[in-house]
Amino acid sequence: MNLVLLGPPGTGKGTIAKFIETTFKCTHVSTGDLLRDEVAKKTEIGLKVEPIMKDGKLVSDSIVLDILKKRLNEFNGYFILDGFPRNLAQGKMLDHLLDELKISLDVVLEIDSPVDVIVKRLSARRQCVDCKRIYGLDVPSKNEGLCDDCGGKTILRADDKPEIVEKRLNLYNETTKPLSDFYNEKGLLVKVDGNRTLQEIFSEVEKTLKKFESD
Ligand code: AP5
Ligand code: MG
Repeated sequence: MNLVLLGPPGTGKGTIAKFIETTFKCTHVSTGDLLRDEVAKKTEIGLKVEPIMKDGKLVSDSIVLDILKKRLNEFNGYFILDGFPRNLAQGKMLDHLLDELKISLDVVLEIDSPVDVIVKRLSARRQCVDCKRIYGLDVPSKNEGLCDDCGGKTILRADDKPEIVEKRLNLYNETTKPLSDFYNEKGLLVKVDGNRTLQEIFSEVEKTLKKFESD
């Protein structure tokens, strides 16, 4: 089963993707994590995208598509796309890419939460720089600043400052939200209420995806 996760910043895409990855045989592919790796390694792409990401803007479609293609070539099997597509042009690029690879998209989960919940969650989020595990108010690491799984440093993302979060939310509504209709028209969209406990969300997502897995 191949999936796309849609939803505003901080709504739980990365957290839910990790749950799906461990429950189903799918690989989590986050374009945000891939870009942050380029920034951390100070590659040519990393140096180019760092100020754009810090400012809460979108990186160019061509850079993201190249990074995505490279990652998809590194493994065989199903994927969970988190952070791609991000606009209608990327939605169409994904259609072409999947046609070329003779792969189908099975389901798009759209997660949503109220803005005040998102802002509160993002100001508390920490992420491991090495294994990318996500921590938050409800899932703190045992030792502050260190990842429980790999011992890596956990940090606040550069784009999680409240003023940048506001920009990212506005950009989501203008640019990414139209993908909801795009996938609804294709009959692929399933909405998930992200304003519940993680346990409630995981259990609903598992039930929903089991139906697709058995189809
Ligand atoms: P990206 O990394 O994709 O960020 P995002 O979409 O803004 O989403 P986030 O990662 O902030 O949130 P999330 O939904 O994953 O939430 P999480 O699970 O962490 O993109 C970053 C940047 O990269 C972009 O701004 C852009 O510059 C660039 N970029 C990436 N892809 C691109 C593309 N395709 N095109 C162009 N540019 C691109 O959860 C958040 C917190 O809430 C955590 O602390 C978590 O523990 C907590 N939490 C989650 N759910 C719950 C719950 N139900 N109850 C309690 N706590 C919860
Ligand atoms: Mg994320």
